[in-house]
Amino acid sequence: MATYDLKVNGRVHTVDVQPDKPLLWVLREEIGLHGVKYGCGIAECGACTVLIGGIAERSCNLTSADVGNAEITTIEGLSVDGEHPVQQAWIEGDVPQCGFCQPGFILQTVSLLESNPEPTDADIDREMSDMICRCGTYQRIRGAIHVAAERRKP
Ligand code: FES
Ligand code: FES
Repeated sequence: MATYDLKVNGRVHTVDVQPDKPLLWVLREEIGLHGVKYGCGIAECGACTVLIGGIAERSCNLTSADVGNAEITTIEGLSVDGEHPVQQAWIEGDVPQCGFCQPGFILQTVSLLESNPEPTDADIDREMSDMICRCGTYQRIRGAIHVAAERRKP
Protein backbone atom coordinates (compact mmCIF):
# COMPACT_ATOMS: atom_id res chain seq x y z
CA MET A 1 0.00 0.00 0.00
CA ALA A 2 1.04 3.61 -0.52
CA THR A 3 -0.35 6.94 0.63
CA TYR A 4 -1.25 9.75 -1.76
CA ASP A 5 -2.65 13.22 -1.23
CA LEU A 6 -5.02 13.76 -4.12
CA LYS A 7 -6.45 17.19 -4.90
CA VAL A 8 -10.00 16.45 -5.98
CA ASN A 9 -12.70 19.04 -6.58
CA GLY A 10 -10.93 21.64 -4.46
CA ARG A 11 -10.16 19.39 -1.47
CA VAL A 12 -7.19 17.25 -0.54
CA HIS A 13 -8.07 13.59 0.02
CA THR A 14 -5.47 11.33 1.59
CA VAL A 15 -5.83 7.78 0.31
CA ASP A 16 -3.97 4.60 1.22
CA VAL A 17 -4.15 2.29 -1.78
CA GLN A 18 -2.27 -0.25 -3.86
CA PRO A 19 0.05 1.78 -6.14
CA ASP A 20 -1.38 0.15 -9.27
CA LYS A 21 -5.02 0.78 -8.36
CA PRO A 22 -6.54 2.77 -11.23
CA LEU A 23 -7.53 6.33 -10.40
CA LEU A 24 -11.07 5.45 -11.53
CA TRP A 25 -11.45 3.06 -8.61
CA VAL A 26 -9.66 5.35 -6.16
CA LEU A 27 -12.16 8.09 -6.96
CA ARG A 28 -15.16 5.76 -6.76
CA GLU A 29 -14.23 3.47 -3.87
CA GLU A 30 -11.95 5.57 -1.67
CA ILE A 31 -13.43 9.04 -2.21
CA GLY A 32 -17.02 8.11 -3.07
CA LEU A 33 -17.30 9.99 -6.35
CA HIS A 34 -19.62 7.79 -8.37
CA GLY A 35 -20.05 10.19 -11.28
CA VAL A 36 -16.84 8.64 -12.59
CA LYS A 37 -18.04 5.58 -14.52
CA TYR A 38 -16.45 2.26 -15.42
CA GLY A 39 -17.05 1.34 -19.03
CA CYS A 40 -14.17 -0.56 -20.62
CA GLY A 41 -11.21 -0.19 -18.27
CA ILE A 42 -8.82 0.09 -21.22
CA ALA A 43 -9.10 3.78 -22.19
CA GLU A 44 -11.41 3.16 -25.14
CA CYS A 45 -14.84 4.47 -24.14
CA GLY A 46 -14.44 7.69 -22.16
CA ALA A 47 -16.90 6.81 -19.38
CA CYS A 48 -14.22 7.34 -16.74
CA THR A 49 -13.12 10.76 -18.03
CA VAL A 50 -12.05 13.36 -15.47
CA LEU A 51 -10.16 16.62 -15.78
CA ILE A 52 -6.54 16.57 -14.67
CA GLY A 53 -5.27 20.13 -14.53
CA GLY A 54 -8.20 21.08 -16.76
CA ILE A 55 -7.45 18.50 -19.45
CA ALA A 56 -9.67 15.47 -20.07
CA GLU A 57 -7.99 12.19 -19.17
CA ARG A 58 -9.13 8.57 -18.85
CA SER A 59 -8.99 7.75 -15.14
CA CYS A 60 -9.04 3.98 -15.79
CA ASN A 61 -5.65 4.38 -17.39
CA LEU A 62 -3.94 6.40 -14.62
CA THR A 63 -2.76 5.73 -11.10
CA SER A 64 -2.66 8.12 -8.15
CA ALA A 65 1.09 8.51 -8.65
CA ASP A 66 0.52 9.60 -12.25
CA VAL A 67 -1.59 12.53 -11.08
CA GLY A 68 0.81 13.89 -8.49
CA ASN A 69 -0.16 17.39 -7.37
CA ALA A 70 -2.46 18.15 -10.28
CA GLU A 71 -6.03 19.19 -9.58
CA ILE A 72 -8.57 16.50 -10.43
CA THR A 73 -12.09 17.58 -11.34
CA THR A 74 -14.96 15.11 -11.55
CA ILE A 75 -18.52 15.87 -12.61
CA GLU A 76 -19.38 16.42 -8.94
CA GLY A 77 -16.87 19.27 -8.78
CA LEU A 78 -17.66 21.00 -12.05
CA SER A 79 -20.21 23.29 -10.43
CA VAL A 80 -22.25 23.47 -7.25
CA ASP A 81 -25.72 23.32 -8.79
CA GLY A 82 -25.18 22.27 -12.38
CA GLU A 83 -24.79 25.89 -13.47
CA HIS A 84 -21.67 25.35 -15.56
CA PRO A 85 -22.40 26.48 -19.16
CA VAL A 86 -21.78 22.98 -20.51
CA GLN A 87 -24.16 21.44 -17.97
CA GLN A 88 -26.75 24.10 -18.78
CA ALA A 89 -26.44 23.35 -22.50
CA TRP A 90 -26.91 19.64 -21.73
CA ILE A 91 -30.06 20.33 -19.72
CA GLU A 92 -31.44 22.67 -22.37
CA GLY A 93 -30.80 20.13 -25.11
CA ASP A 94 -32.23 17.25 -23.06
CA VAL A 95 -29.09 15.35 -24.04
CA PRO A 96 -28.87 12.29 -21.75
CA GLN A 97 -30.83 9.11 -22.30
CA CYS A 98 -29.70 6.59 -19.66
CA GLY A 99 -27.03 9.08 -18.58
CA PHE A 100 -24.22 6.61 -17.92
CA CYS A 101 -21.73 8.09 -20.37
CA GLN A 102 -22.69 11.73 -19.90
CA PRO A 103 -20.30 12.84 -17.13
CA GLY A 104 -17.46 11.78 -19.39
CA PHE A 105 -18.86 13.61 -22.41
CA ILE A 106 -19.47 16.76 -20.37
CA LEU A 107 -15.93 16.81 -18.99
CA GLN A 108 -14.47 16.05 -22.41
CA THR A 109 -16.47 19.02 -23.73
CA VAL A 110 -15.16 21.32 -20.99
CA SER A 111 -11.64 20.33 -21.98
CA LEU A 112 -12.37 20.80 -25.70
CA LEU A 113 -13.83 24.28 -25.26
CA GLU A 114 -10.80 25.41 -23.25
CA SER A 115 -8.51 24.62 -26.17
CA ASN A 116 -10.97 25.33 -28.98
CA PRO A 117 -13.73 27.79 -27.97
CA GLU A 118 -15.57 27.54 -31.29
CA PRO A 119 -15.28 23.95 -32.50
CA THR A 120 -16.72 22.93 -35.85
CA ASP A 121 -18.71 19.73 -36.30
CA ALA A 122 -15.53 18.11 -37.58
CA ASP A 123 -13.57 19.29 -34.53
CA ILE A 124 -16.26 17.86 -32.25
CA ASP A 125 -16.36 14.55 -34.08
CA ARG A 126 -12.58 14.28 -33.86
CA GLU A 127 -12.56 15.12 -30.14
CA MET A 128 -15.31 12.63 -29.37
CA SER A 129 -14.09 9.88 -31.68
CA ASP A 130 -12.97 7.67 -28.79
CA MET A 131 -16.03 8.35 -26.63
CA ILE A 132 -18.89 5.84 -26.62
CA CYS A 133 -22.57 6.48 -25.88
CA ARG A 134 -24.46 3.22 -26.09
CA CYS A 135 -27.73 5.16 -26.29
CA GLY A 136 -26.52 7.01 -29.39
CA THR A 137 -27.00 10.58 -28.17
CA TYR A 138 -24.20 11.85 -30.40
CA GLN A 139 -26.32 14.33 -32.36
CA ARG A 140 -27.68 15.94 -29.21
CA ILE A 141 -24.19 16.06 -27.71
CA ARG A 142 -22.89 17.84 -30.79
CA GLY A 143 -25.76 20.35 -30.65
CA ALA A 144 -25.19 21.00 -26.95
CA ILE A 145 -21.49 21.61 -27.53
CA HIS A 146 -22.35 24.38 -30.00
CA VAL A 147 -24.81 25.88 -27.50
CA ALA A 148 -22.20 25.75 -24.73
CA ALA A 149 -19.64 27.38 -27.01
CA GLU A 150 -22.07 30.25 -27.66
CA ARG A 151 -22.79 30.66 -23.95
CA ARG A 152 -19.12 30.91 -23.09
CA LYS A 153 -18.62 33.88 -25.38
CA PRO A 154 -17.93 37.10 -23.46
S1 FES B 1 -13.56 3.02 -18.53
FE1 FES B 1 -11.93 4.35 -18.96
S2 FES B 1 -12.07 4.72 -21.09
FE2 FES B 1 -13.56 3.21 -20.71
S1 FES C 1 -26.86 8.23 -22.54
FE1 FES C 1 -26.87 6.07 -22.25
S2 FES C 1 -24.81 5.47 -22.71
FE2 FES C 1 -24.90 7.55 -23.27
